[in-house]
Amino acid sequence: MTAARDMNAIADAHEHALMHAMAPIITRSVLFNLADGKREFSMGDGKSRVQMGEDPRLPKMPARPTLLDFFRLRFPPTQNHLLQSAALARKNGLPEKMVLACLLHDIAVIGYIRSDHGYWGAQLIEPYVDEEVSWAIRNHQSLRFFPDDSVGYAYPDAYRMLFGDDYKPDDYIVEDYKRARAHKWYMSARQICVNDLYSFDPNAKVSLEEFEDVIGRHFRQPAEGLGYDNSPVAHMWRTLIRPANAL
Ligand SMILES: [Fe+2]
Ligand SMILES: [Fe+2]
Repeated sequence: MTAARDMNAIADAHEHALMHAMAPIITRSVLFNLADGKREFSMGDGKSRVQMGEDPRLPKMPARPTLLDFFRLRFPPTQNHLLQSAALARKNGLPEKMVLACLLHDIAVIGYIRSDHGYWGAQLIEPYVDEEVSWAIRNHQSLRFFPDDSVGYAYPDAYRMLFGDDYKPDDYIVEDYKRARAHKWYMSARQICVNDLYSFDPNAKVSLEEFEDVIGRHFRQPAEGLGYDNSPVAHMWRTLIRPANAL
């Protein structure tokens, strides 16, 4: 009996060691599954480890990550749209904080989420920028759909192609547009639209480094690092650092 028990204990320990040597299961979030058209929830297979902590599949983040670290280590390299918008804003003589607004206006799209991207992007950076910058980013979401002849902004041809000729913005977008129009910072959000380049020129090479000075002057980088400063949005940055954490 004792020998059998010993054998069982050895087998258990062996299985345990094997399980720990195996890569943890990635539990996809419901949002991720919904975006794939599936209403699914999973917590692994009930006996294997699930992903928690540093994700070995992704580049290692520094202990105190900066905005530039997220651009370089988390956001996909397809950042030309943001860089070109910021470069155009600078060329058009916009104030530095608006150059930053253009640089970050689609941070949600290129960084983590598409739906309602203006609202998500504004929220992510709100504690670290001038209030006008996050307001403008939030409201470019609705203004994008409405022309303004006074600044030569027409409904984007790209939207006709992407959404169809008969596309109508949702009611909440229309309401937000009306509110934004009456706001003292309307023109700031509108300037994002004016400098929002749709025809990406692959030959126009703009580097992130060209905006390091603007970021340094107008983005309040927390000393503890984004994600660890106890701000109301710290968890959003942490989720970008460890997107597959099971909890
Ligand atoms: Fe946008
Ligand atoms: Fe954009």
